[in-house]
Amino acid sequence: SDRYAVLGNPVAHSKSPQIHTAFARQTGEDLSYTAEHVESPDFEAAVGRFLQGNGKGVNITVPFKERAWALAQWRSERAEKAGAANTLYRLEDGRLAADNTDGVGLVRDLADNNGVTLQGARVLVLGAGGAVRGVLQPLLKAGVQSILVANRTLSRAEALAELFAADGTLAACGFDAIPAEPFDLIINGTSASLQGELPPVPAAAVVAQTACYDMMYGAEPTPFCRWAREQGATQVMDGLGMLVEQAAEAFQVWRGVKPETARVIADLRRAMT
Ligand code: ATR
Repeated sequence: SDRYAVLGNPVAHSKSPQIHTAFARQTGEDLSYTAEHVESPDFEAAVGRFLQGNGKGVNITVPFKERAWALAQWRSERAEKAGAANTLYRLEDGRLAADNTDGVGLVRDLADNNGVTLQGARVLVLGAGGAVRGVLQPLLKAGVQSILVANRTLSRAEALAELFAADGTLAACGFDAIPAEPFDLIINGTSASLQGELPPVPAAAVVAQTACYDMMYGAEPTPFCRWAREQGATQVMDGLGMLVEQAAEAFQVWRGVKPETARVIADLRRAMT
């Protein structure tokens, strides 16, 4: 049967095999999905080795998303703009195709799974790395009014604001210049949680109605989620739903079938805690 995999380093704890196996069972698609550890110098060759015969598609995770983008011979518009790819497969003519489903994953988790109103929203995005670059255009396309990109290193935030200037209203600032006024939505796209840290956001940026989303997730609430609750935010979400939604979109790109996600998210959450 058809084979799929996630390639990364580290990759052992990836939930993608579990997620895609659940999708396959649910949709009746005949496929297998594994996690493959790849050594850095071998990445490009590993993609080539996997995508032959029954090897039909790969997801790409840290630290290879930019190299996956560079390797591709065709890119979807959303991958082109993201500068990174998380989904690879072959076109009928054999060319290597790259897509990026992270941004649509975030938008679906916010809007569909959590009922967050994106239309007209004033959004604060924390961070300006690869993860944030992948979600800015999908957020703007979903109709948000404006995005302020705040980052520890101001120049990276400025570069992203410029890159997406044609797609909507964006501005950039350092953490010390975040205005002390309420936002409709705050998204943490920094990796600060990994060090148990928290971007310094003024308390006045959060009111009860401010939806707060951390693109990271874990068995315990992330430092950002805990902080958001302490500020009185009533809707606080982590990135588990985004993980499942980006996988669902990749599954649809590969198989032409859209899996149902709510059950898979709930099962993963239960298994984690
Ligand atoms: P990713 O692919 O996860 O986006 P990245 O491109 O290395 O990884 O970006 C990491 C992001 O988290 C950056 O915005 C980084 O800020 P800098 O651009 O100033 O480096 C941010 N970040 C990482 N650790 C942080 C911390 N302890 N506090 C605040 N921001 C942090």
